[in-house]
Amino acid sequence: MTSAKIFILWVLGVWVMIINGYEDCTNLKDISNPNGTSLGTLQGFNVSDCDVNKVCIIDHNSTTTLSMDFTLNERVEVVNTKVEASLGFISLELKIGHPAPCNDTNSGLECPLEPSDTAYHYTVTDQIKFRIRNQKINVKWSLLNEDAKTIVCAQVAVMFR
Ligand SMILES: *[C@@H]1O[C@H](CO)[C@@H](O)[C@H](O)[C@H]1NC(C)=O
Ligand SMILES: *[C@@H]1O[C@H](CO)[C@@H](O)[C@H](O)[C@H]1NC(C)=O
Ligand SMILES: *[C@@H]1O[C@H](CO)[C@@H](O)[C@H](O)[C@H]1NC(C)=O
Ligand SMILES: *[C@@H]1O[C@H](CO)[C@@H](O)[C@H](O)[C@H]1NC(C)=O
Repeated sequence: MTSAKIFILWVLGVWVMIINGYEDCTNLKDISNPNGTSLGTLQGFNVSDCDVNKVCIIDHNSTTTLSMDFTLNERVEVVNTKVEASLGFISLELKIGHPAPCNDTNSGLECPLEPSDTAYHYTVTDQIKFRIRNQKINVKWSLLNEDAKTIVCAQVAVMFR
C-alpha cells in the first residue's frame, strides 16, 4: 500500500474512527478476534512519555517503552506480539524488534505462562517507525498465544512526528 493510497483513504473521512488516548481492545470483536474472546484481562497499560488520555506523540527515531499488566485465565505456551497501525478500516502490520516476548530477557515474561490472578508485567523498548507522519493513527498492540488467540490487547492513538 503506497502512502498516496493511504492518504486518499484518510481524506475520505476514516479519521473519525480514530480513538483518543488508550482503549482496552482485549475483547473487541474484529477480523483478528471474531468472537471477541481472550485468555487474559488487561490490568494496566503505559507508553513512555505519553498521557494515556491524549494522542501520543512519538518522535521519529526515538525509543518507546510500552508496558502492560495482565492476569491470565488459561495456560499459554508461547507469546507472540502483533502490532497493527490502523487508519479506520485499513490496517498495516508494524515490525517490532522483539516479536516474541519470551525470547527477550527484558520483557518480564517467561514461557509457559500459568493462569494467575497476580498480574504479569510485560515491557518492551523499541524504535517504532512509521512512514506516515503528523497524522493520528491507532496502534493496536496484541499479545497472542501459540494458536494466535488474543491474550490481551491495548490500542493507543499515536502521531508520529
Ligand atoms: C468462535 O466461536 C465459534 C463458535 O463457538 C468457534 O467454533 C470458533 O472456533 C471460535 N473462533 C475463535 C477464533 O475462537
Ligand atoms: C535516525 O537514525 C538513523 C540511524 O539510526 C540516523 O542515521 C539518522 O540521522 C537519525 N535521524 C534523526 C533525525 O535523528
Ligand atoms: C503505569 O504507570 C503508573 C504510574 O507510574 C504505574 O502506577 C503503573 O503500575 C504502570 N502500569 C504499567 C502496566 O506499567
Ligand atoms: C523464540 O525462540 C524459540 C526457541 O529458541 C524459536 O523456536 C522461535 O522461533 C523464536 N521466536 C521468534 C519470533 O523469534
